[in-house]
Amino acid sequence: MTDAMPAKDISKLPVEDLTARQAKAEHARLAVEIAAHDRRYYQEDAPTVSDAEYDKLRQRYGAIEAHFPQLRAAASLTQRVGAAPSARFAKVRHAVPMLSLDNAFAEADVVDFVARIRRFLRLADDEEIVFSAEPKIDGLSMSLRYQDGALVTGATRGDGSDGEDVTANVKTVKDIPHRLMGRGVPRVCEVRGEIYMTKRAFLALNTRQAEAGGQVFANPRNSAAGSLRQKDPSITASRPLGFFAYAWGEMSAMPADTQSGMIKWFETCGFKTNPLTKLCRSVEALLRFHREIEGERATLDYDIDGVVYKVDRLDWQERLGFVSRSPRWAIAHKFPAEKATTIVRDIEVQVGRTGALTPVAKLEPVTVGGVVVQNATLHNFDEIARLDVRIGDTVRIQRAGDVIPQVLGVVLDKRPRGAKPYAFPTTCPCRLHTDVVREQTVTGEQGAIARCSGEFACPYQAVEHLKHFVSRRAFDIDGLGEKQIELFYERGWVREPADIFTLQERNAKIHLEEVEGFGETSVRNLFGAIEARREIPLERFIYALGIRHVGETTAVALARGYGTWDAFHAACLKLAKGDAETREEMDALDQIGDTVIDSLRDYFGEAHNRPRIEHLAARVRIRDAEKPHADSAVAGKTVVFTGTLETMTREEAKASAERLGAKVAGSVSKKTDYVVAGPGAGSKLGKAKELGVTILTEDEWAKLMR
Ligand code: IVH
Repeated sequence: MTDAMPAKDISKLPVEDLTARQAKAEHARLAVEIAAHDRRYYQEDAPTVSDAEYDKLRQRYGAIEAHFPQLRAAASLTQRVGAAPSARFAKVRHAVPMLSLDNAFAEADVVDFVARIRRFLRLADDEEIVFSAEPKIDGLSMSLRYQDGALVTGATRGDGSDGEDVTANVKTVKDIPHRLMGRGVPRVCEVRGEIYMTKRAFLALNTRQAEAGGQVFANPRNSAAGSLRQKDPSITASRPLGFFAYAWGEMSAMPADTQSGMIKWFETCGFKTNPLTKLCRSVEALLRFHREIEGERATLDYDIDGVVYKVDRLDWQERLGFVSRSPRWAIAHKFPAEKATTIVRDIEVQVGRTGALTPVAKLEPVTVGGVVVQNATLHNFDEIARLDVRIGDTVRIQRAGDVIPQVLGVVLDKRPRGAKPYAFPTTCPCRLHTDVVREQTVTGEQGAIARCSGEFACPYQAVEHLKHFVSRRAFDIDGLGEKQIELFYERGWVREPADIFTLQERNAKIHLEEVEGFGETSVRNLFGAIEARREIPLERFIYALGIRHVGETTAVALARGYGTWDAFHAACLKLAKGDAETREEMDALDQIGDTVIDSLRDYFGEAHNRPRIEHLAARVRIRDAEKPHADSAVAGKTVVFTGTLETMTREEAKASAERLGAKVAGSVSKKTDYVVAGPGAGSKLGKAKELGVTILTEDEWAKLMR
């Protein structure tokens, strides 16, 4: 062995056998290589080696320094390890959830939106409602928390409850003040708005990235998101990002009592607000605004995907409140979808979580509204027959927002000769080749949805089910995404949700750290993330089970209704046995009806589901449902409204009662706690008297709620 040995061969020598000179050369070579990998991983989001290979390089680098301490200079990578970015950002819990907006597509939806508000607030037809109309910026929403005027946290929306802490990065955005200007700034101010990249900056960045062989982005929004979620804030600083303020979260005091007043106040604090924002006083004015902005869309230097209408008066916003995840006082009026024409190369069938087969058109790639589209959904049997799409056809497609592009129709004069009508498969593409069953409609006809009858034995369904289980709104396990689930399923390591929680125990046999794409660090992080999720709120657990028709809102209603997993589970088992009383009890829960109840009955009645659920429940800790309004006098009480209410509509009365944790029922029974009776109350009042239920006037009820 001589010092003249080529570097390539030195890299194979054990560290103990290196001479001082070889060690120096090898140390320098590794530093360059590791720095290049860091750059590709953190800055370009495009690693070229697996975590395991990367870990090996770092280990060797560390071992050289251990043997040759003179190489451990201040600039050494090992001296920077503490500061080396972690793979993920820290989580931040939003003081006030960051919700989303309901969408309007047609003018009639806007008319309905305004009518709904009028009804809810019981406004006379001639009472004016003022709206703040604003462009809907297509960027990423951001929450900026200021304490005593100083910026303390910048967080992404995340799942609405928890976002990512990107404080260091938002501080590099020029439109975001580090201190709020002006006097009398409230102690806590959470300013919300949209981070975006101008179209011009996006094009310039992509050109630069392409020249440097770096990552190019599909559109300005992705580019803004990619630039903001950098581990190194100096990269964010080098990307031209803008920010418009348009909303708020927690405020220790309110500087204005209208949306437009708040926007003006944001300006005095030093924020940019959107110059196209305008007050509108009628439906016609809203629709005119939509048309005007759509006309200007192409000339704006930032992407917008619609406009947003918000009730200007904040006291009205407060009264209107929220339905599930969006406010009643605002709506996004989207612009029509963008369209394009391309060729169908193939038609594939995908199997979803519930076994539903979805035909997907594989397309000749085409750009629609700045995004390259290669797949479009054909929905189901009927749709494919209605469109008569054939392989080789030229089709018109459209893409709206984030939804999967759709096939609108076939350009018949371009159909190639000999193209054959598409024959829907009669068996599932999974290895079971089970018969495909077409769902029966209520009238007994063949429905449009085809399903594989294999359930969990169908690998596609099992995998989709696991993907749902770990998804963001369910168990949300960091580092366990769709790709990992597919791999773990294929290798037989995770076949059902409970297996995720025994993975670490079984790793002595599996050796995940040796698998391509993993390394010791990522495996350690993965097990940490799994452990962190071993305790889970009841509503998330119910949602994660992936029961048909049990979405997030339903899961919350069930969790609130039963309080504990044991109570809910026992009820479902009784339901599965056909217990009529349990069915009735469930039916009395807010938002729960026959569809959900039938689905729970079928799910818990299915013999092979039961052990899966039990295995899982034994391996996690299910936290009882929060009783958010336990301190309110009406929490947990059942109330019936009857007669005319004078200060509010029924809908508003119901919403405000539910907000404080009360249940609103339609009929009086032994279980009713209060009957709120207004003028004209009839038989319900009689029944209440008969049963001895407490009867309140609207006023008394209002006092109780306070
Ligand atoms: S208000 C309670 N105003 O649209 C909802 N949102 O679909 C408060 N957005 O997550 C949001 N421009 O990222 C509001 N002028 C605007 C907006 C806007 C864009 C985004 C925002 C939000 C999403 C909802």
